[in-house]
Amino acid sequence: MKIPKNGLPKEEIFKILQDYKGHDLDWQSGKVLGFIYDAGKEVHEVTHEAYTLYLTENALDPLSFPSLLRLENEVVRMTANLLDCSSDVVGNFTSGGTESLILAVKTARDYSRAVKSHIKEPEMVMPITAHSSLYKACHYLGIKPVVTRVHDNTFKADVDAMRAAITDNSILLVGSAPGYAHGVIDPIPEIASLAVENDLLCHVDACVGGIHLSYMRQLGYEVPDFNLNVPGVTSLSVDLHKYGYAPKGASIILHKNKELRKYQIWGCSRWTGYPVINAAITSAKSGGPMAAAWAVLNYMGDDGYKEIVQEVMAATELMIAGVSGIDGLRVLGKPDMCMFALASTTEKINVYHLAEEMKKSGWYLQPQFARENSPANLHISLNRSTVPRAKAFLKDFEKTVENVKHGDVDHQILDLQKELKKLSLEYDDETFFKLAEMAGVTGTEPPENMEKVNMLLEALPYDISEYIMVEFINNMMDSGNHQ
Ligand SMILES: Cc1ncc(COP(=O)(O)O)c(C=O)c1O
Repeated sequence: MKIPKNGLPKEEIFKILQDYKGHDLDWQSGKVLGFIYDAGKEVHEVTHEAYTLYLTENALDPLSFPSLLRLENEVVRMTANLLDCSSDVVGNFTSGGTESLILAVKTARDYSRAVKSHIKEPEMVMPITAHSSLYKACHYLGIKPVVTRVHDNTFKADVDAMRAAITDNSILLVGSAPGYAHGVIDPIPEIASLAVENDLLCHVDACVGGIHLSYMRQLGYEVPDFNLNVPGVTSLSVDLHKYGYAPKGASIILHKNKELRKYQIWGCSRWTGYPVINAAITSAKSGGPMAAAWAVLNYMGDDGYKEIVQEVMAATELMIAGVSGIDGLRVLGKPDMCMFALASTTEKINVYHLAEEMKKSGWYLQPQFARENSPANLHISLNRSTVPRAKAFLKDFEKTVENVKHGDVDHQILDLQKELKKLSLEYDDETFFKLAEMAGVTGTEPPENMEKVNMLLEALPYDISEYIMVEFINNMMDSGNHQ
């Protein structure tokens, strides 16, 4: 594959780009119950136009592009006001939840370096339901994640377990509003008060919930406290590219005040080039995501969001009631917004198999592994595009569950996990190829059927499954062997 000697005609380029999408999830179908937050065609047109209008402006230097500084400040303030923040609260625009969370952890690390210099091996305490990006933040920033249990049945953080996990090296406590997996909000006031007692910072991951929960509250739904007004909460992340319906590349990190935010910002004047000040992680970046986020907030307005939240909540209630009423399944915990997880209560239903069977009628449900007291389950997130499909979902789902319940159990697949126990597992090619063969994964193609893959990955020790996942992607992504 080489850059063509002569450029291709525009029409051909767009034809190829369209063709490449042939095997993607069909996000416009309203049947993709994860990954996608789609508010419909009109909103797309607005975000698309705003994005392209600012495509080339570079947010590397807000002094050279004051329009971007203004857009960023306005988006941050609109978000902070929606979350009922005081005027002391400050924030920045980032590329997504992961960047916001890494910045929250960096701020805590650098703050503790400045005011608690005796801490040499910083630790952060978080429930096992905290998003994987927080593990990534720890990994990148040299922080030890101290992971605590959640309560059986509610899947909310066990605050006593967090208390017991605090040591002289702790710098930060984390809670989620809600955690992605189960859609359940942690007891943020208790976690934050524990942080105050122990002179620690406290971050609330409201990446998925911040916008949706704020409008639920305005609509009169009962929403537990989770924002920066809770005494002890020092930072909060909220994604606009989820339930703000902005295109991907839009999140906000908020800090209680400027004193804390200064530990987030990075400057460099010691190299031979231009002086750099980065409020977030990335340096040069398109103004597109900011402009599109600004446009969608203004286009929807409070009324537009409230309408969507109301519709989405009605569809969620319908789906949760429908799924809970199916013999052999249960919804985990009591979800606080429009996302939930369903697990099996009978050996006859293997949820990973169920997900594969649902794929056949075009539905995508997200498999989640059994971890500690959370059983293997399928995650469902609703958004505006899924609302008209809620009844059709239940119809297809009930039928598929019946078929799975009365179909033959594939003992070969169940035996895989037993076989695994007999293997000696190492971090080497032999282990990788053996496991790939067991999972039916050949070559470097993405597997068609994920059931075996999920069963195996779930049963492996965490570090081995992570090693295998990294190896797989390393093989699948350009490995240098192509023509
Ligand atoms: C609670 C929570 N935090 C963080 C993230 C990470 O966000 P992103 O994928 O935008 O980096 C997600 C993503 O779903 C999430 O649900």
